[in-house]
Amino acid sequence: MAIERTFSIVKPDAVAANHIGAIYARFESAGLKIVASKMVHLSREKAEGFYAEHKERPFFGALVDFMTSGPIMVQVLEGENAILANREIMGATNPAEAARGTLRSDFATSIDENACHGSDAPESAAREIAYFFGEDEICPRTR
Ligand code: PPS
Repeated sequence: MAIERTFSIVKPDAVAANHIGAIYARFESAGLKIVASKMVHLSREKAEGFYAEHKERPFFGALVDFMTSGPIMVQVLEGENAILANREIMGATNPAEAARGTLRSDFATSIDENACHGSDAPESAAREIAYFFGEDEICPRTR
């Protein structure tokens, strides 16, 4: 399996609860390397653009309200099978259905405030990484 990159967000609920370090430790323990990282506070326009595929869904307004409610951490994770590996670390979208030991089981409170985001496919990973990071902000890890 080739080395792959995925895009990840620590959402406002988890940042507010001081879980950034604990969540980053899960990525590193699983062998994923953080190759780009920054804290941002999304504007409504930026959040609406990021979630544009969900704009017709009933929760869209609440999702944008939540994602603009406080700072988030955005990061690029690199490793073998990184997209699937990160989805497994996160657990199901709804924390009530997330397996024990996953980020959403341990750090999320509801489907509306579910602690983290991770890309679901290579195409979305490439799009989402480029939405937040320039190539000069990503540091390939050689060791
Ligand atoms: S679903 O339900 O399987 O279609 O969810 P998904 O396509 O993976 O992502 C939906 C994103 O919207 C966020 N969100 C909600 N989803 C479902 N129901 C409710 N009420 C809801 N509120 C917010 C959900 O966390 C997904 O966000 P990301 O950032 O992609 O994880």
